[in-house]
Amino acid sequence: MNRRHFLKTAVASLASTSLPRFAMAKTGDGTFQLEAVKGKGRLYGDEGGLSDLWLFNGQLPGPEIRVKRGEWVKIRFKNSLEEPTSVHWHGIRINNAMDGVSGLTQPAVQPGETFDYEFVVPDAGTYWYHAHHMSWNQVPRGLAGPLIVEEDEQTFESDTDITLALSDWRLDDNGVLDTASFGAMHDFSHAGRLGNWLTINGQNMPEIPVQKGRWHRLRLINMSASRILDLAPSRFGAQLIGLDGQVFDSPREVDGTIQLAPAQRMDLIMRPEGDGPVPFETMTGQPYTFANFTISKEANNDDLLRLPKANALPEPDLENARSFPLVMAGGAMGRMQSATKNGQELSMRELAQAGDFWAFNGQAGMGEKPFFSAKRGETIILESTNDTAFPHAIHLHGHHFRVLERNGKKLENPDWRDTFTTQRGETVKIAFVTDNPGKWLIHCHMLGHAASGMMDWFEVA
Ligand code: C2O
Ligand code: CU
Repeated sequence: MNRRHFLKTAVASLASTSLPRFAMAKTGDGTFQLEAVKGKGRLYGDEGGLSDLWLFNGQLPGPEIRVKRGEWVKIRFKNSLEEPTSVHWHGIRINNAMDGVSGLTQPAVQPGETFDYEFVVPDAGTYWYHAHHMSWNQVPRGLAGPLIVEEDEQTFESDTDITLALSDWRLDDNGVLDTASFGAMHDFSHAGRLGNWLTINGQNMPEIPVQKGRWHRLRLINMSASRILDLAPSRFGAQLIGLDGQVFDSPREVDGTIQLAPAQRMDLIMRPEGDGPVPFETMTGQPYTFANFTISKEANNDDLLRLPKANALPEPDLENARSFPLVMAGGAMGRMQSATKNGQELSMRELAQAGDFWAFNGQAGMGEKPFFSAKRGETIILESTNDTAFPHAIHLHGHHFRVLERNGKKLENPDWRDTFTTQRGETVKIAFVTDNPGKWLIHCHMLGHAASGMMDWFEVA
């Protein structure tokens, strides 16, 4: 599908669909039933063919799991795919055994098997869940869904609290998911699997109904395999109130654009005025509309804004921290000559033959020994250097960290995140408290990068 066709059709299908709601109900004993199944769907709209998808409960995206802060969440997961899988609860400071990382925190759930995930959600906010077994092959087929943890006190009513799951797909000339290119080495060694088609909550160019004069909360989740989205909230009158599930003390105006990398979330507030429709755009290259807000006729002008409160996260103690470098190397057009893999030094060519292109600190993929071991309650500083030709989105499991510095410059807002972006040549300094015992992954959330070397683990005793 070339870009012209892509644009023309996108415009032609404007205003054709409205946004589906997709909350999930618990069964009588308070358990959510989640099942990974094969399914079919039309990603391209009515004219496109049927794509082969892998779905949670047959839905795209997976059903929204909504729970309350502090709740004991029970999810009975059934794998009805023809291959093993597992489910990771991204961004939750979770009990390690429930983190869903096949091969590290649990064996993969085999076809036909069930696995009970049971955990407490300590923080309110916008999170998501996704397959974590061969994620590069499973997530971009549809195995992802939102996980929303509500505050103790309701701040937005349900009709003004809107989850927007953003996904980038690679479609072929028939508008069907291109499955032949899954695992393409070219994608792994470059920017990852990039698509040519965007959906919001599984729809292309949906209408998002909003109400004039009322405050809305928009929960954006980037579920794409590799696509970084550049968004400009001020262009649709929105302000930023939180990132990666953690809300700020006060709303912020965003000057220009802000990146939403794979796995990252962004919480916005907006109070629609005027008549609309108001386009929701990506600003990568030229502004490109991929949904429209439609504004109700009737206005409600005395709506009060009630903002959620920030979560209490453990504050890093920078004076008494241990620092580790995290040097990212490899990839096409990179300078890496060799790296160790399973304890052996391999040349770039040997690595490539084994399907590896990237390394953290000179090591491709997970080592037998952890990247570092920490005691419970220590402050760890990671000083990352992106010595590659591509951006990356680095995710730490089980913890949130503060982003302190970029390129040696202290940030005005050292925001809490669970996934940070790093551009070519950039250094980024983060800090966090290792307060959650277990074995935790650290990896690039460009899923092909993680599969080809950009992944390691650390241990908290
Ligand atoms: Cu969102 Cu290791 O993953
Ligand atoms: Cu990467």
